[in-house]
Amino acid sequence: EQIEKGGYEHFMLKEIFEQPKSILDTMRGRLLVNEGIIKMAGIWDHLERINKAERIVIIACGTSWHAGLIGEYLIEEFARIPVEVEYASEFRYRNPIIGPKDVVIAISQSGETADTMAAIKLAKEKGAFVYGICNVVDSSIARVTDAGSYTHAGPEIGVASTKAFTAQLTILSLIALKLGKHNGNLGNAEFMSLIAELDAIPTKVEEVLQSSHEVAKNIAKQYVDATNFLYLGRGYNFPSALEGALKLKEISYIHAEGYPAAEMKHGPIALIDENMPIVIIAPKQGHYDKIVSNVQEIKARKGQVIAVVNKGDVQVASMADHVIEMPETSECFSPIVAAIPLQLLSYYIAVYRGANVDQPRNLAKSVTVE
Ligand code: G6P
Repeated sequence: EQIEKGGYEHFMLKEIFEQPKSILDTMRGRLLVNEGIIKMAGIWDHLERINKAERIVIIACGTSWHAGLIGEYLIEEFARIPVEVEYASEFRYRNPIIGPKDVVIAISQSGETADTMAAIKLAKEKGAFVYGICNVVDSSIARVTDAGSYTHAGPEIGVASTKAFTAQLTILSLIALKLGKHNGNLGNAEFMSLIAELDAIPTKVEEVLQSSHEVAKNIAKQYVDATNFLYLGRGYNFPSALEGALKLKEISYIHAEGYPAAEMKHGPIALIDENMPIVIIAPKQGHYDKIVSNVQEIKARKGQVIAVVNKGDVQVASMADHVIEMPETSECFSPIVAAIPLQLLSYYIAVYRGANVDQPRNLAKSVTVE
């Protein structure tokens, strides 16, 4: 097992550090920047059907569901197809309105999650076309779907999903850009600049791993005894906040909640005092000014702000108690980069609390029963 961990203390840390490579593996053979194309056989073979869909419904559970939420932002922005994201466990039991004009995208790392599987079967019975995004090759979900793309992130052992999540975001980015390019909603110049930006993501992920590792570790030390955490983000990084909170809950057993930053005033603000750490994901693009005022509101109530910002940020950084920097990228890809420091922060808080990070209590890697 020590050999499999490749010198890392836990599989989770190894998998966090594998991300520059796993994201590259997800893109390999698909993102051909020099030729200016995205090659995805699964999408290409069914392009008509998918691009003519009246609606895309994304179904998933857990971390994969968070990837689905970001998928909604991506597909709606670039392909302009309406998207809904549902928990597989809710979808399967509520007699959903779904039919032959709909496309379902099912996301699952393991490809074995019982609820996701049941939701797929139901969607197929009702005539929908089901596209799978799985990590495990030849898994049950990969076999039952009509078409799909593997994430190729490699085996993920840590129960808390890390590299599978960023691989799912990479695939969803590729799909959204490809659909948009072919249905005419994404002009060629924008497409070209976005694919160049996506191509640079593995390098930026490497950069943020190096620059934020020690920083996240030091911050973690100071929050070992926290009992609650709030995670806030807007737009593309609202789901990043949900995923950041989930990571912390899963492995450190600290209660954490993710929220869209603007919704703070409708509830969570009541919880803010000097004992509440709040992680804010605030890249330069995407309503930065609004985030600035959210941070002001938090500081006025003495909340402790851990800000994840772009390199060189001044405004949010100057108000924050702790700052984690990340390289700048297009807003639509920023959740991939922002995921890294959030994973590291959760990891080290859990390690300092003496928790079993690779196998947290009560959780399973793959939930094959209801
Ligand atoms: C479990 C795992 C999570 C995962 C979820 C969905 O809860 O612990 O990490 O996100 O199942 O799994 P899937 O394999 O369908 O992505």
